[in-house]
Amino acid sequence: MEQTDVLIIGSGIAGAVTALRLARNPKRRIVLVTRARDPHESNTRYAQGGIISRGPDDSADLLVNDILAAGAGASLPKAARILAEEGPALLQEVLVETAGIRFDRDENGDLEWGKEAAHSRRRILHVGDATGQAIIKGLLNALREYPNVRILSNTTAVDLITFPHHSRHPLDAYKPIVCHGAYVFDRAARTVHRSLARVTVLATGGLGRLYRNTTNPPGARGDGLAMAYRAGARIINAEYVQFHPTALAIPGAEGFLISEAVRGEGGVLLTPDGEPFMHKYDPKWKDLAPRDVVARAIHHEMTEYGYSHVLLDIASRLPAATIRSRFPTIYETCLKAGLDITREPIPVVPAAHYFCGGVAVDEWGRTSIANLYAVGEVSCTGLHGANRLASTSLLEGLVWGTRAARHIEERLTEEPEAPVPGREDVPPWDESGLTDDRDPALIQGDMQVIQNIMWHYVGLVRSGDRLSRAIRELRHLQNEVETFYRSTKLSDGLIGLRNAVEAALIIAQAARHNRQSRGCHYRVDSVDTGDRLL
Ligand code: SIN
Repeated sequence: MEQTDVLIIGSGIAGAVTALRLARNPKRRIVLVTRARDPHESNTRYAQGGIISRGPDDSADLLVNDILAAGAGASLPKAARILAEEGPALLQEVLVETAGIRFDRDENGDLEWGKEAAHSRRRILHVGDATGQAIIKGLLNALREYPNVRILSNTTAVDLITFPHHSRHPLDAYKPIVCHGAYVFDRAARTVHRSLARVTVLATGGLGRLYRNTTNPPGARGDGLAMAYRAGARIINAEYVQFHPTALAIPGAEGFLISEAVRGEGGVLLTPDGEPFMHKYDPKWKDLAPRDVVARAIHHEMTEYGYSHVLLDIASRLPAATIRSRFPTIYETCLKAGLDITREPIPVVPAAHYFCGGVAVDEWGRTSIANLYAVGEVSCTGLHGANRLASTSLLEGLVWGTRAARHIEERLTEEPEAPVPGREDVPPWDESGLTDDRDPALIQGDMQVIQNIMWHYVGLVRSGDRLSRAIRELRHLQNEVETFYRSTKLSDGLIGLRNAVEAALIIAQAARHNRQSRGCHYRVDSVDTGDRLL
């Protein structure tokens, strides 16, 4: 059993920044757990395009306007304002000065400002096309300087420890819900520990892996969302799952992200016959229309004309040497898959990419449960509304990670004597009666069932009938999984499967409940036609 000041679950930019900011107080003991074997592995690592700062002819007001426009009327203006005003200075202080990240510069030594869809200005900083990887490497290196931070990899959170749910005291039933840490599974030893903390921070990332086609890595299966939901936290905007328009469609390399920056630098979408089509869907922004519009346009072209994919042409728009230097990862990955992007167009399809909803938090990352904070993709600050503006997510993790840390530090300083629950207060994990060993084939098979249901019925284009069907099938599966879970020894795969079916149901139910199309939630039977539907 571990007792600490702050337990952080997740090692992407949001979790790492929260830890880094808290660690500056040497008295603070911080434990950061991640299910990954290598803490660098998270959604952050796969972020290609970059991170927003303030471009040369830019302002906080312009960025706020772009965020609100992309968010299709559902972004919280206060959240957009916080990000736009605090983001650039934090980027300089935390990423450049503390974590030593060197963003790309041009031949004159000036910062190279990138552009992506629905941005009215060039304002995106990048490190080639592997920005997330550079950022997480810098942050984790910086964290290693702090002996008061313990990073436990290969450790999967199972459930939040909340009172009254896990309390041994009957009178706790009359008190509000409070979080006291989490049960965590040591994947190597195959044992569950109580990790008790005065404050717990969820930073578990997203859930793209609930879908058959996704740009996300295997850990993005909705763990944090499901844990928070079971604990009773308020969840909002769960219907808004963003699909990235351009994931690679080459067998064996499916899901690899082809950054929106490729279109930002002039790339154009074409039908397989070589015809541009985005002007039909958004005459003003064309290929740089908001992401939901581009993804639906591609989906529409594919279903209407029976294409298996569309093409993204950068080869005839930029010199080969520029493509290789600006997009080295994309160039190399496609080359390995047999495609030279300096000579041929890239076959692409939409894929699940980012969860715009999540655990509702305020401007300090506080959830509806006492002592529980959430930061990064698992949280919903309101910033992204119904459709996230490109390259805002890394900055959101940085800003809210910093804000959450500031708030936690103030609270822990003000309440130094606040009691931490002890061994006697929280029951140990009960494994009695668990006889069966895990069956990886069952777990994998059930995961694929979830991914197919979500892809077909809770995907880019939805209807009441499809959503009702999804909910019926997911409920049936959830009963099966719960029975399996109650009789089987724990494994990371089983924890993930239980969370995945829970998270899938949360999304499907929110999508059925909301009958109005908006942003990335598009229903053919919408009660209202929004202003940018197909
Ligand atoms: C991309 O590079 O297209 C992804 C950027 C983002 O999702 O913000």
